[in-house]
Amino acid sequence: MIPGVDNDSVVYLNGEYVRLGDARVSVLDRGFIFGDGIYEVVPCYHGKPFLMDKHLARLTRSLAAIRLDAGRDAQAWQRLMLDTLQRSGQRGDCIIYLQVTRGVAKREHGFPAHSQATVFCMVSPLKRPDAHKRDDGMSAVSMVDERWLHCEIKSVSLLGNVLSKQYATDAGVDEVLQFRDGNLSEGSSCNIWVVKDGVLRAPVRDHHILEGIRYGFLVSLAERLGIPFEARAISQEEVAQADELMLSSATKEVLPITRFDGKPVGSGKPGAVYARLRAAYDAAIESL
Ligand code: PDD
Repeated sequence: MIPGVDNDSVVYLNGEYVRLGDARVSVLDRGFIFGDGIYEVVPCYHGKPFLMDKHLARLTRSLAAIRLDAGRDAQAWQRLMLDTLQRSGQRGDCIIYLQVTRGVAKREHGFPAHSQATVFCMVSPLKRPDAHKRDDGMSAVSMVDERWLHCEIKSVSLLGNVLSKQYATDAGVDEVLQFRDGNLSEGSSCNIWVVKDGVLRAPVRDHHILEGIRYGFLVSLAERLGIPFEARAISQEEVAQADELMLSSATKEVLPITRFDGKPVGSGKPGAVYARLRAAYDAAIESL
């Protein structure tokens, strides 16, 4: 028994659909030994995937970045995820988790000459952010970004992210805002947004951050709503003086950060730009 996990849910593993509780991977899997793999998290609302095309595109980029040819194209990945969703029986809000590793081989760092990718897909219920988080906002503290320089790859090597999330937990807050060389990068598992004088800003989409699927989506919503947007380096001082801070991810959608480093952000309440983006995000989900 693993708390919070439904061992009876149907998952995909290497060509078969099995109970989660029966799914087994070799200890020599390079995902286990080296963290040599990538993953995707696709949110679904009332059983329908949200922004699937963008997730497929990022999956393709991640596989190419680690030079892993798993023998499937975007269409085949989509079929696999939709099939797993269907067999999982989940018809409400849920997430599709897909993981691809370089497979099982003798433990040697270089790529194995012959190995078959390990492909795993599961579907879990998604609890959308509750009213308290939407209305009161989240708290965050700053920390130095100590991760590697390929944060654009959605790698399963998440130790840096795990340690930063634990830093937040130990500090008694919800999230961290990481800074590299004095500039904002991202949260432990989310992108960060800064509003000043009505302008929405985010760090440039480069190797210092994961390009969240909500990054592009929120930029498109801002454009539609006439909210000016700018991608550029954002200093820690600018973050500290922001009118609004927000975070975004597949599971957190878009949420306000109302306390940063122990102080209120702007008025200390979720701001006007957040409210507009939130409403547009909710409307997009409703119209799925
Ligand atoms: N995390 N940055 C990092 C480091 C992330 O791990 C995530 C998402 C994001 C936001 O990406 P998206 O909008 O595509 O969810 C940014 C997922 C949810 C996770 O690891 O569970």
